[in-house]
Amino acid sequence: MTNPLPSIIALDGPAASGKSTVGRRLADALGYLFFDTGIMYRAVTWIALNHDMDLNDENVITQMAQSAQIDIRQPSQDDGRACDIVVGDKDITWDVRSGDVDANVSLVSAYAGVRKALSEQQRRIGMRGKVVMVGRDIGTVVLPEADLKVYMDASAEERARRRYTEITTRGEQADYDEILKKMIERDRIDSTRAVAPLRPADDALVLNTDKLSEEQVLTRILEMCR
Ligand code: DC
Repeated sequence: MTNPLPSIIALDGPAASGKSTVGRRLADALGYLFFDTGIMYRAVTWIALNHDMDLNDENVITQMAQSAQIDIRQPSQDDGRACDIVVGDKDITWDVRSGDVDANVSLVSAYAGVRKALSEQQRRIGMRGKVVMVGRDIGTVVLPEADLKVYMDASAEERARRRYTEITTRGEQADYDEILKKMIERDRIDSTRAVAPLRPADDALVLNTDKLSEEQVLTRILEMCR
């Protein structure tokens, strides 16, 4: 008899480790829900910036995160988006990828109250099963009972190179050295914060993707599933 497929799959790793792209393809291959939890931290950061809130005021940001209505819907446009991200009646799908959000999201996601509010919602959805959930703390905090935990890693240089290619392919200007510097700073904040720091769970399978193509990473993870 073959083993059943893992129902709850946690995919964690640093920025631009390729976990969202691979996670989306993995979910498609298995017919599972794909849930990128970074979107929620990005949406909260966007709301704070858009309402001129003081990002250093943990109480104000936490209260907003507790009541924020962030809607994730099926994609309404064929422009490369995996889903629509809607706040109120505004589509903020691409706004959450802006440089301003990139620069501030680590600060906002380090707040304990923000993490509590968002991880409770993530856990509720993840516990339904048949899900590929992507983030930083899925295997350690949000869904410690996940059936399969994969931690995708890659060097900061490789991840900065991928991000650079992604931005320039969209026709936008980018500066590799600047991207690398910001990447290292975000890694530092994400992995040294007091609550739910970025790290592999003790029972996670660690996959270094430096020398692997997207296809090879997907194949490896599908092998882990089976
Ligand atoms: O994966 P991403 O780059 O979209 O994530 C944006 C930020 O959100 C990142 O700085 C870390 C944070 N994050 C987190 O702390 N916990 C998660 N489960 C997902 C993202």
